[in-house]
Amino acid sequence: MSPARARQPAAGGGTPELAKEIEQLVAAKEVIVACGPGGVGKTTTAASLAATVAARLGGRVLVVTVDPARRLADALGIRGIGNQATRVPDEAFEAAGVHPKGELHAAMLDMSESWDALVRRHAPDHATAQQILANPLYQNISRRFAQGHDYIAMERLYELHEDGDYDLLVVDTPPSRNALDLLDAPARMQEFFSSRLLRWLTVPYRSRFVNMASRPFYQVADRVLGSQLLADLADFFILLQTMREGFVARADAVDRLLRDVRTTFLLVTTLEAVPGREAAEMKAALAERHLHLGLLVCNRVLPPSFTDTEAARAADALAADAPALADKLCDGLEADGEPISADLVARVLEEVAHSFANFRLVAAREGELLRELTASNSVTVTVPYQPGQITDLDGLLRMGAALWGESPPATRRQRR
Ligand SMILES: Nc1ncnc2c1ncn2[C@@H]1O[C@H](COP(=O)(O)OP(=O)(O)O)[C@@H](O)[C@H]1O
Ligand SMILES: [Mg+2]
Repeated sequence: MSPARARQPAAGGGTPELAKEIEQLVAAKEVIVACGPGGVGKTTTAASLAATVAARLGGRVLVVTVDPARRLADALGIRGIGNQATRVPDEAFEAAGVHPKGELHAAMLDMSESWDALVRRHAPDHATAQQILANPLYQNISRRFAQGHDYIAMERLYELHEDGDYDLLVVDTPPSRNALDLLDAPARMQEFFSSRLLRWLTVPYRSRFVNMASRPFYQVADRVLGSQLLADLADFFILLQTMREGFVARADAVDRLLRDVRTTFLLVTTLEAVPGREAAEMKAALAERHLHLGLLVCNRVLPPSFTDTEAARAADALAADAPALADKLCDGLEADGEPISADLVARVLEEVAHSFANFRLVAAREGELLRELTASNSVTVTVPYQPGQITDLDGLLRMGAALWGESPPATRRQRR
């Protein structure tokens, strides 16, 4: 889509107000953090928003994804692991029928690489950094510690924002068990470094061992884990302690960026019961922490046609008159040269009418949830379920059109 066309009201009854609201929001912000329950389309929405901003509004836009589906990663040119960003070539946009105004860059969030970079930054010297990086406990914790992933996502965001290479950063977040962990990650990191646990663990191993050696816990721990592991543990925490100041200051800066006026949150959810409830909690948690919720995306919703009362009446009539209608319809109807009986046609008609009624119920429930979730001070967008998966730039831009409030254009399959 050319930028000129993008400025025109959407065909098929789009809402230019919505497009304006989104564009104003995006223009005012430098950082957009996509959050929400797992599996609702966070990664896809983050990528779609970034691609659409790059295409329609211009500027240098970077999307940092966490766990893109392989085909989506391929489409964005993100290969293998590593934090390196790559530019999505203009040709990829051209292939999707769009002349982009700006640049789209994409990166993966590489947890290990980010942790290692953090250690190198905060260790007092090169030798200490090397000792930490080589410590087996560090390697285990930095690669497997789920809460740590939440922190590292926010930390990486901070670093990218500090570098200032992009006009807009759209950051996907890790699929955490509890989405709220993400918001509290910087505070937790600070808490950990100031905790009594860490102080206790970093009392020089020998003196602690001597004091505690007579205690049953230590006797058992020593026998079960071996004194080498206990010594490794103590070493690790002593090394960690050398980075305390840097880590605490950094976590504080990360936290400030999340609260900055240039940062906003994009809450993605579906309107199903469980994700809907989780999203409502997330919304409340954002408000409680005074974090700005700029955009609420309700993804994979049923099309509005299901809530149309006229259509519902038509479906009811279809169900009631199925036998009579079937008589008329089956005349001359055949499959593989065999005539189709009126009974069979009536059964299909009734099934279609019932399915419509069921979808209508679901759509009504979705509508209720949507009303509950809609926040007065943020932009709310619903994105209909798109047939097939969204795995290429064309799909991302089509989803972007829905984000901009334009009715979904015909899919490729329908156009054929
Ligand atoms: N509006 C949509 N219509 C159809 N499929 C979608 C839509 N949004 C996302 N998907 C699909 O849903 C799946 C999960 O999306 P993903 O973005 O990976 O979710 P999350 O990051 O929240 O786990 C993917 O296969 C994606 O292509
Ligand atoms: Mg994801």
